[in-house]
Amino acid sequence: MGDIFRILARFKIDERGIIYTIENSNKANIRIGDILFDLRNNGFRVKGMEMLRRLLGDTPMDEIPVGILLEPLSGAEVMGNILVRELKNINFLFCNHPLYQKRVDEDYKGEYQAAGLDHACALFSFEDMETGTLSLYGEEISGLTIYRGWMMKPEMYRDFYSKLEERGIILINTPKEYEKYHLLPGWYDDFKEETTATVWEKQGNVKSALLAAASWEGACIVKDYVKSRKHEWYDACFIPEISDAVNAAKVIGNFIDRQGEGLVGGVVLRQFERLKQIGFHERSGMPLSEEYRVFIYAGKVFAVDDYWTENIGAGISDEEYQWIESIAKRVKSNFVTVDLARKEDGTLIIMEFGDGQVSGLQQLKPEKFYGMFRQRRERQKRG
Ligand SMILES: Nc1ncnc2c1ncn2[C@@H]1O[C@H](COP(=O)(O)OP(=O)(O)O)[C@@H](O)[C@H]1O
Ligand SMILES: [Mg+2]
Repeated sequence: MGDIFRILARFKIDERGIIYTIENSNKANIRIGDILFDLRNNGFRVKGMEMLRRLLGDTPMDEIPVGILLEPLSGAEVMGNILVRELKNINFLFCNHPLYQKRVDEDYKGEYQAAGLDHACALFSFEDMETGTLSLYGEEISGLTIYRGWMMKPEMYRDFYSKLEERGIILINTPKEYEKYHLLPGWYDDFKEETTATVWEKQGNVKSALLAAASWEGACIVKDYVKSRKHEWYDACFIPEISDAVNAAKVIGNFIDRQGEGLVGGVVLRQFERLKQIGFHERSGMPLSEEYRVFIYAGKVFAVDDYWTENIGAGISDEEYQWIESIAKRVKSNFVTVDLARKEDGTLIIMEFGDGQVSGLQQLKPEKFYGMFRQRRERQKRG
């Protein structure tokens, strides 16, 4: 993948700094003295390099990651997990219209137009990709690329990623990074303290789900590793009392049946938190709470938005903003979303994570969202 280097791990070494290990496939390219940039265009000079055999036991020689010691040129440590020789404009990749191959999918029209003001944008057929074929349309792109479109199951993303890679198009998140934040069990342990207590099973089965929550009492919600059926709140999402096995089994059963083939992973049960309510959804009747969608790019908050209303980030205090930044710093992917909800007691909790490429903008305007990439680049040009 040419001049894009993935960071695998970081080791702080006293008095020397941070050793970043990167995938070996590129090691021949990097030399001491080279200048590399992170996703925020912070520059670093390669000060030292070493093979990390002693850290990895009997890994074959050509699979051993290489460790590089970096001297920061602009005072920061590497943000995100990507280093490049030059941070060129990032490309975007959208799904095409199912009938008109060279047009964007109707639902992404606004985003495609906004992105196109500053970025090369290509299209591909989601339907073809579902059966393992990559069909690209629109502008020719290569290098670092962000996909904006429908959610993919991890297997499909893996296939998509590697077929694009063969064409020199490198998606911002590796399949591993995608999966970690797309599936609840991937991120849960890292953020247990900040989210509601959760259990899951792997079979998509009512009995094993009830078993996983055997010691629980009180209200729960049911979902799979990715999605809920929140718009069918009372019959396939909300469980008023988990210890009422008959009713709980009914709601979980409805959820499993209605997800059908679309069920991802297994059944997830989450303890219900009383959230600060702001109304009810006009069509489905599900309760609406004060919730925020935060896009996190290369370890920092990129954009915050109210999930349900156009009241852009209004209810977040400075202190809370700092808390959100501290969460952003702990994220091990280049581009994710985190949804936050306000509890009745006024504190914020994490509702769920998602991969940034497949999360909707909600109330955020496309011009604002894509403008953020521009603002970042202009800052880079100046600094
Ligand atoms: N544990 C919970 N306690 C209270 N409300 C919840 C809980 N889990 C989900 N909800 C509500 O249901 C909505 C949908 O849940 P979420 O986990 O975000 O599923 P989805 O992936 O379908 O958006 C949330 O936005 C929130 O309003
Ligand atoms: Mg959600």
